[in-house]
Amino acid sequence: MITILPSILAADFSKLGDEVRSVEEAGVEMLHIDVMDGHFVPNISMGPLVVQALKPITRCAMDVHLMIEDPDRYISDFARAGCDRISVHAEACPHLHRTIQLIKQFGLKAGVALNPATPIDAIRHVVSDIDFVLIMTVNPGFGGQAFIPQMVDKIAETSAFLAKHAPHLVIQVDGGINKETIKACYQAGAREFVAGSAVFNQPDRTLAIKELQAL
Ligand code: DX5
Ligand code: ZN
Repeated sequence: MITILPSILAADFSKLGDEVRSVEEAGVEMLHIDVMDGHFVPNISMGPLVVQALKPITRCAMDVHLMIEDPDRYISDFARAGCDRISVHAEACPHLHRTIQLIKQFGLKAGVALNPATPIDAIRHVVSDIDFVLIMTVNPGFGGQAFIPQMVDKIAETSAFLAKHAPHLVIQVDGGINKETIKACYQAGAREFVAGSAVFNQPDRTLAIKELQAL
């Protein structure tokens, strides 16, 4: 089983509702929401208001990827806005264990994201508390970047680590995922695939998603 999560960062914001409907009609069950603060990453994107606005118009679950400093300050706002899962960056959380507990207190699934240069050791002592690991396959901050090929080994390393210590955890990958790069990530052990440009920059979203699912 694999899951494709379209990242609405690549959608046309002037008609976000229609964009979301187009991927929902293509069979998508979960959206990826990229939150950037201009500090942890250079770019600024969107906040809880977008989650709140989408909530009544979609049946899709919402997976919020916080690329922000001090995420603890905003977790309750995103939970109240109606998201289903939150991932935080290990690099942004000095008290990662506490941040994970906070996400779970709101009844949400918790993920930890790792930048390309961050070793997987960063999650070693929290794997029993989380639901998924997000291996960044680009440096976070922008859509449309090229996949970093060295990340395939990191996915495989994470997969081997999880098989031993937390076999229920899912590996999500994010950044530069398209019909060319998805296969190697799958073979290395990833099962959730975030795709921005490879979905929203294509005229036919149903076809785009089918092509990704075909691996
Ligand atoms: C990068 C974001 C990604 C991005 C993916 O900082 O976390 O989710 O939107 O976009 P593509 O698929 O275009 O690389
Ligand atoms: Zn993301």
